[in-house]
Amino acid sequence: MELVFATNNKNKISEVQALVPNNIKLLSLKDIGCLEDIPETQDTIAGNAIQKTEYIKTHYGYACFADDTGLEVEALNGAPGVYSARYAGEQKNAEDNMRKLLSELKNTTNRTAQFKTVIALHLNNELQTFAGICTGEITKIKYGEKGFGYDPIFRPKGYEQTFAQMDLSLKNSIGHRGKAVSQLVSFLNSSKK
Ligand code: IMP
Repeated sequence: MELVFATNNKNKISEVQALVPNNIKLLSLKDIGCLEDIPETQDTIAGNAIQKTEYIKTHYGYACFADDTGLEVEALNGAPGVYSARYAGEQKNAEDNMRKLLSELKNTTNRTAQFKTVIALHLNNELQTFAGICTGEITKIKYGEKGFGYDPIFRPKGYEQTFAQMDLSLKNSIGHRGKAVSQLVSFLNSSKK
């Protein structure tokens, strides 16, 4: 069976391809000829993931799953949340986003935050969602060079290092995306039986 993962990120695709049952072949957006920007206009993380899968189902007719992720900061009432990518503007620049977040939290002692990933799956005319959460805190300055996005300023609960100081295998095993992916994989494995 062919299943579209609504992304063009080859790393994400090969990571998930290695985990799903081997009768499932994952296709990227490019593989199905989807070159346009898929609308992400909802005001929740789950809403955007659902919107992306439904777009592919409607316009291309494939079974599909899509993910959407945001960083929710308690002292900012859940911001930047669904707006994480463009928090400091449409240029979607990670350095600008981190600078803005550190400045918003400059005088704040409550630095509790969580990453949330929602994966929406459209399969056999049914919609399922899987959420993965990783709680932690926003550091005062950046630490580490690995990863991407807000990784240098996010320290997961129970660890001394930020995501940007960790090996990817550790980040994946405790992280939001890894948790959502493992629920998706369990679901696909169980619906195969
Ligand atoms: P997306 O839904 O995967 O495109 O993520 C939205 C935004 O959240 C990205 O532009 C990043 O800024 C941020 N983000 C997503 N996942 C991570 C992560 O694992 N670490 C750090 N930042 C992330």
